[in-house]
Amino acid sequence: MSAKTRISIAPMVDITDRHFRYFCRLITSKAVLYTEMINSKTIIYGDKKRHLDFDPFEKPVVLQIAGCNKREVAEAVKIAEEWDYDEINLNVGCPSDRVSGNQMGAALMAYPELVAEMVEAMKKESKKPITIKHRIGIDGTNVLSSTLQQVVFNEYEDMERFVKIVSQAGVKHFIVHARIAILEGLSPKENREIPPLRYHEVYRLKEKLPQLIVEINGGVKSIDAINEHLRHVDGVMLGRIAYEDPFMLREIDGLYKESSPLKRSRREIIEALINYVQKIETDLGTSTNLLRNVLGLFANQRGSRKWRQLITPPWPKGYGGAQLLEEALKVLPSDILDDR
Ligand SMILES: Cc1cc2nc3c(=O)[nH]c(=O)nc-3n(C[C@H](O)[C@H](O)[C@H](O)COP(=O)(O)O)c2cc1C
Repeated sequence: MSAKTRISIAPMVDITDRHFRYFCRLITSKAVLYTEMINSKTIIYGDKKRHLDFDPFEKPVVLQIAGCNKREVAEAVKIAEEWDYDEINLNVGCPSDRVSGNQMGAALMAYPELVAEMVEAMKKESKKPITIKHRIGIDGTNVLSSTLQQVVFNEYEDMERFVKIVSQAGVKHFIVHARIAILEGLSPKENREIPPLRYHEVYRLKEKLPQLIVEINGGVKSIDAINEHLRHVDGVMLGRIAYEDPFMLREIDGLYKESSPLKRSRREIIEALINYVQKIETDLGTSTNLLRNVLGLFANQRGSRKWRQLITPPWPKGYGGAQLLEEALKVLPSDILDDR
């Protein structure tokens, strides 16, 4: 594995909140974790502590910002400086209408010069690395036609041009979701499933621009698949598998030669979660939302249903998260709880 190699867990709205990141960090000490995508306006005008606070235990953590106005993204980066995120990532991959309708997210792929200007403005406000998460292309003929004649941006050469222009503004690290985004007619979920994966185009990008850090994303579900991608690119970003089967994340540390894997058992993870939940219950008065993204801890194992039933709200009267987790340790099969 090269010095630059990294494995990360993708930014995912409603999933990668601070509690989920804490949970992931109990399983892997090495994977780079991302926030959910946060709109630059939300950072500027919203409840900053609510959106930006995190526990230092989660580090390294990357803040992902969405925006399309260079003054706003720069202002958001300036505000976030106080929180000491390890890197700032700009979202150029989200196909959602809420985002692309505003010419943010994936739609920005049609405007590489604008993205370069945004990056330059962000770099004036922070010394942290600025990275870009994008798609291999977009198809947005109608959505963007008021401003552009033709925005089918679907050829490898289009992506390479985008990356070259943006890298000239000082971005060295590109995370590429190996599908195009179809900006109309498909929901965000369909946009993660229907456009075919074109990994070879991401490999080609690394081949053509070897000085850049190229990280691949999309459909990676196993350690074998990670190892295969690492023969071609510098890093791999895992999305859905991280909440569908989070226990697989324990294998990640073993991919870094210098690390000694945590290899916590599910029992140890739950015990650590109990302490965390108690702390959060004291601080926030509730832990209901905290367990919503740990449902996959027993994926494909005996006890999976029981676990999901136990921690899915509504919880029995008088029960908090810590009591439910204690209960889980009593009723779930001990061989699965102690498996490493
Ligand atoms: C529930 C959900 C929310 C997502 N939210 C974001 C987001 O906030 N920012 C982003 O760049 N991508 C987001 N994505 C896309 C993922 O980061 C990732 O690119 C995509 O799921 C493909 O990777 P996978 O096949 O490993 O899941 C989201 C995906 C899911 C499933």
